[in-house]
Amino acid sequence: MSDNLETLYQQPEEAVIARIRALRDELGERVLILGHHYQREEVFAFADVSGDSLKLAQQAAATDVPHIIFCGVHFMAETADILTGDHQSVILPDPAAGCSMADMADGAQVTDCWAQLAGVLNPDAEVTPVTYINSTAELKAFCGDHGGIVCTSGNAERVVRWAWGERGKILFFPDRHLGENTALAMGIAPAEMVLWQPGKPLGGNTAEQLKAARLILWDGFCSVHQLFQPEHADTMRQQHPGIEVLAHPECSRAVCEVADFVGSTEMIIRHVDEAPAGSKFAIATDLNLVNRLRLTHPDKPIWFLSPMVCMCSTMFRTDPQHLLAALEAIAAGEPGNRIIVPKAVAEPARRALQRMLDLG
Ligand code: 13P
Ligand code: SF4
Repeated sequence: MSDNLETLYQQPEEAVIARIRALRDELGERVLILGHHYQREEVFAFADVSGDSLKLAQQAAATDVPHIIFCGVHFMAETADILTGDHQSVILPDPAAGCSMADMADGAQVTDCWAQLAGVLNPDAEVTPVTYINSTAELKAFCGDHGGIVCTSGNAERVVRWAWGERGKILFFPDRHLGENTALAMGIAPAEMVLWQPGKPLGGNTAEQLKAARLILWDGFCSVHQLFQPEHADTMRQQHPGIEVLAHPECSRAVCEVADFVGSTEMIIRHVDEAPAGSKFAIATDLNLVNRLRLTHPDKPIWFLSPMVCMCSTMFRTDPQHLLAALEAIAAGEPGNRIIVPKAVAEPARRALQRMLDLG
């Protein structure tokens, strides 16, 4: 831990918050703080713009502010850096805030998968690679280089439809659940999908299975969302008749199939906002967001779907001390913890992101 952070942890939290407020005012329009919905309350309160991955990527692409502090996780800050100019800096307050799902596929594994597919079919003519935005810049670059695209949980259906319009098959990574749930909602049969298990020859499939498949799903998942189970929905419905179950599409197929509504964090928030007073919800996504919805909608009883705590520990890493340290470094003229994607990766990654943004 840096000396500065250690000093900040010794100060009372109120003093840290007061200093953030003062510095925020002092830095004015030189800084934009982006906050993902999973951020803890004390940090989320300082977000100039909050949103899901799609909205925050769009915001990063649209701003010309010199410094963006990204209160989120590493892939989000990388995306922001790719979409901003060289004169702008993107700062991740705690550089250790990663995403375990994004770590489930790397460039070497995906390149190896593509090479293995080339032994069975002609991937550059027959397969569109689609990467969930929860992935490294390297994978976005792979998609940019191979006629592929990025998607988020907020636009997956539109992106997947585009990808099938380009080529007959899709290789979707790293989240098997988002890929599967999206395709099922579009009427694709389970028999048309196969799972690619990295490390196994042909991902654990036969050549015939790969030739027949329309969707090849990478075997990755979110360790937070996989904790929700369909039985949790049964219990909630027994205890609270009339309750609506809302799930993030990173939950398993079994959970999404029993949910009343499936959508990104932004879509879940909008759904609750627009419901009439008295509506009851059980929600399957990160606990910080569910707790915030509870506070902002006292007229709509809201439960967490799981009896266990499901919280993204890396999103939780960004605390007021890290945010203050980031602001102090900018004020001192030495922005720290910058996320800089090398040009050779950023260029093709931007192509894949731009294809997504162009879809609207
Ligand atoms: P959203 O884009 O829906 O906010 O999801 C991001 C994420 O990482 C969910 O786990
Ligand atoms: Fe990654 Fe899951 Fe955390 Fe989202 S909730 S950032 S997918 S680990």
